[in-house]
Amino acid sequence: MIITVTGTPGVGKTTLSKLLAERLGYEYVSVRDFALEKGIGESAGDEIEIDVDELARLASEEFRERNVVIDGHLSHFIPADIVIVLRLHPGAVAERLKVRGYPPKKLAENVEAEFVDVILVEAVEENENVLEVDTTGKGPEEVLNEVLSLLQAGIKRRVGIVDWSDSYGEILPYLMEGR
Ligand SMILES: Nc1ncnc2c1ncn2[C@@H]1O[C@H](COP(=O)(O)OP(=O)(O)OP(=O)(O)O)[C@@H](O)[C@H]1O
Ligand SMILES: [Mg+2]
Repeated sequence: MIITVTGTPGVGKTTLSKLLAERLGYEYVSVRDFALEKGIGESAGDEIEIDVDELARLASEEFRERNVVIDGHLSHFIPADIVIVLRLHPGAVAERLKVRGYPPKKLAENVEAEFVDVILVEAVEENENVLEVDTTGKGPEEVLNEVLSLLQAGIKRRVGIVDWSDSYGEILPYLMEGR
């Protein structure tokens, strides 16, 4: 069973993936480490650029017979049994990325991506089985429990649960600052 955990930077993918892997007794895999190990990630500053077609091919080969939780904002390009897309109110994304010291432009790009559902849209283009989870105002355990109950209930698709359009006024200053 392959479960991928995706979402905008800072939404809590790594936190959830590790908790989920531990609870399910699955292996935890980070896309970044996997890509570096397989030589399909190219350094671009402090980030790496990953060839997603190669990622999908190599990961399916590697994890086909294994139980894994795969963590990363590109993990939805890997064929999976279930894709979990974590969502977080764009204002909260902005706060988290600010705390991390993201430069304004990069911060704005990611806040905007969360605002317009970029990762969700990509995930549903790639996979039928997509579970969208709103983490806003929820602690890690609460997010974990919500994911576990969806999995236990056998729910394979739940999308369209958030609408960030009301947050536009709140995020506009970040978007302007990033121009
Ligand atoms: N449910 C949550 N409630 C509050 N804080 C959280 C929650 N999940 C994660 N965090 C905190 O938010 C920050 C980002 O979390 P995390 O590293 O898991 O995000 P990520 O999606 O993996 O980010 P990246 O895309 O950069 O890898 C961390 O400081 C983490 O402790
Ligand atoms: Mg992470």
